Amino acid sequence: MSKLDGLFEKNREWAKRLHSSDPNFFQKLADQQNPEYLWIGCSDSRVPANQIVGLLPGEIFVHRNVANIVVHTDFNCLAVLQYAVEILRVKHVIVVGHYGCGGIRAAYEDTDHGLIDNWLRNIKDIQYRHRARIEAIDGEEARMDLLCELNVMTQVSHVCHTTIVQNAWACGQELAVHGWVYSLQDGLLKDLECTMDQAGQIPDAYRVIC
Ligand code: CO
Repeated sequence: MSKLDGLFEKNREWAKRLHSSDPNFFQKLADQQNPEYLWIGCSDSRVPANQIVGLLPGEIFVHRNVANIVVHTDFNCLAVLQYAVEILRVKHVIVVGHYGCGGIRAAYEDTDHGLIDNWLRNIKDIQYRHRARIEAIDGEEARMDLLCELNVMTQVSHVCHTTIVQNAWACGQELAVHGWVYSLQDGLLKDLECTMDQAGQIPDAYRVIC
């Protein structure tokens, strides 16, 4: 017997439960997906997108990586964003960070973690840019919490600076980009209130003029 049999067993129970609540559930999803949201979150196993916001399969499109980073040359993330915006025509892109993020901690610390430190350099850049503000507050945990929030706000900007979001706005497509932080301590989300939904909110240097 495989050590993974338990997962198949849980899968059969899960499928049975959903089927019994709606016999057409899987057939409807097999025909199409129609999510209104794209979630860009951390890979952390404690931050599962669907469960946190109580949504079923088909209701939220998801991209996750270590420390929810949006890099201009990351074609994995950009492909997800393009598909979500241009084909699925989601109305909301939500960047979701979380307090207690191992990626943020690893970036904040000065120890060697191997290859991943190069990915986390993106966070180190934010830490360095905002060093005066971060160092002005007391306590390592509070500083990392602030870095976590600054990271989310930076990634919201990065999403908005892409040609994908710029072109959607230029075409008059309804699209808002939000920044949230999740607390592992109480399971609650906090809106950082850095939502952007029009090109006028970003610097001219990044604007695509049609
Ligand atoms: Co994390």
